[in-house]
Amino acid sequence: MSEALPKPKMQDYKRHLLVCVGPRCTTEGEAQALFDTLGDKFKAAGIDQGDLRVKRTRTHCFATCKSGPIVCVQPDGIWYYNVTEANLDRIINQHLVKGEPVEDLIYHRSESVIGA
Ligand code: FES
Repeated sequence: MSEALPKPKMQDYKRHLLVCVGPRCTTEGEAQALFDTLGDKFKAAGIDQGDLRVKRTRTHCFATCKSGPIVCVQPDGIWYYNVTEANLDRIINQHLVKGEPVEDLIYHRSESVIGA
C-alpha cells in the first residue's frame, strides 16, 4: 500500500481558460503577453473569484498551431483563434461573464460529455 499523499487544493471555478503560449502559435511572445494581462482583466470583469471564477492555465501546444493566439474554454469545449487583445476582451465580456460564445472567433467546438 502506498503512503498517503496530501491532496492538492484548488478553489472552485466555473470555467477554465487554457492559453497556448507555444512558439508555433505566436512567434514574438504575443500569447504570453496576453496571458500576463489575464489577472487584471479577470479582476476588472469580476471573474477572478465568486460564482463565475475562471481558472487560467498556460499550455505549450494543442497541436492546432495556426492563427494564434489560440485559447480553449472548458468545460464548454470551445476553441478560439486570432485572440488579439480586443478579441480577448470580447471573449471575457461575452463568453466568460455572460455565457454566450463569440461565434465568429470559434474554430472548433466539442460536445461536453458531462451529463450525457
Ligand atoms: S504551439 Fe500553440 S497549438 Fe501548437
